[in-house]
Amino acid sequence: MTADTTPPYSTLTPPGEHPAEAIVSLPNLEHNFRAIRERIPSTCRIMGIVKANAYGHGAAGIARRLGSLGVSDFGVANIEEAIRLRNAHAISSRAAVLAFCSPLASYLPLYLKHDITATICDHEMLRAAEAVGSAHNRPVRIQVKVDTGMGRLGVSPRHAQELLHTAEKSPHLNLEGIYTHFAQSTRLDAFTAGQLKTFLDTCSEFEHSTGKHLCKHAANSGALLTLKDASLDMVRPGIMLYGYLPDEGIENAPELKPVMELRTKVIFVKEIDAGTSISYNRRWSAPSKTRIATLSAGYADGYHRLLSNRISVSIRGQSFPQVGTVTMDQIMVDIGDSHNIRAGDDAVLFGWNGPGADDIARAAETISYEILCGIPARVRRVFKENSP
Ligand SMILES: Cc1ncc(COP(=O)(O)O)c(C=O)c1O
Repeated sequence: MTADTTPPYSTLTPPGEHPAEAIVSLPNLEHNFRAIRERIPSTCRIMGIVKANAYGHGAAGIARRLGSLGVSDFGVANIEEAIRLRNAHAISSRAAVLAFCSPLASYLPLYLKHDITATICDHEMLRAAEAVGSAHNRPVRIQVKVDTGMGRLGVSPRHAQELLHTAEKSPHLNLEGIYTHFAQSTRLDAFTAGQLKTFLDTCSEFEHSTGKHLCKHAANSGALLTLKDASLDMVRPGIMLYGYLPDEGIENAPELKPVMELRTKVIFVKEIDAGTSISYNRRWSAPSKTRIATLSAGYADGYHRLLSNRISVSIRGQSFPQVGTVTMDQIMVDIGDSHNIRAGDDAVLFGWNGPGADDIARAAETISYEILCGIPARVRRVFKENSP
């Protein structure tokens, strides 16, 4: 196992200081990558979605492994994440890095400096990018985003042609692709089909009138699982890479493996009498005499307070209920009459040996994405090369 040396983790959490750690399994990442590869045409590229620190896993380590699997396109949220990825030297300098958020004009010179592809959604930003390209005598890499129904970012399909033609004619811009994003990709309904049709019509109109082929992409994990025709030139899976499905009840889903295991240590064990209350606001009392293990992890480690009294923890391969309110740095677990559990023992909060991040998400009334992304910097990421 090697600790991720990518800033900010190396500087914020020297190895060994905090018992909570996120073990990141690179073989499991590779397994999920291959499961995606099998689902899509061989000519279709896979963009590695490594935004939000690769859904909390550690962007540099994840991108490095994806690069070794042939990935040469990466998706991040913004220029800050993009620069961090470039500076980590984890990917080839020839790999493309697309920042999904619409840029602020003042940051556009950074896109050029660090060779990052900007998402362009309107004429104002197009002109700003052109001005930067012209001033530096080097084209700015751009992709045009079309809003076909997500309602978040993008040019409306009505105005897309004008924007695309202006971009394509400019010597100061390098128009690399066109993309859209689905609002409910795990449901094969008329709305989603309409989004795909609008996108394909927009692309065809431009390609027919210019004779140029653009890299077209639309599919996130949900769409690549449910909407075969949406794979196009490239797919953009995020959550699948990290071992989870975007939604429950997806038919014929491949078997995926969690890439992250959140572990910590038992730091204290005691015996309590029936009726003894545990933690803030006394929301749990022992029904009978039992043993309580205190673990070094809490909501400041991404273990939501909503999980209080709702989830289990795995210690020495056995599952025990978490009891009492989750506190900032510690949680309590009812280990019953297990006398073999001691301070220093490993405990699995979620991952391949415990509940999944999706189980945690259900109990915390959220989605696995938020659980994974919410693991903060003080939890050290430890990359594992061997299969768990
Ligand atoms: C533009 C874009 N593409 C792809 C993804 C990946 O989505 P998923 O994790 O559902 O595969 C996201 C994630 O939110 C996104 O914003």
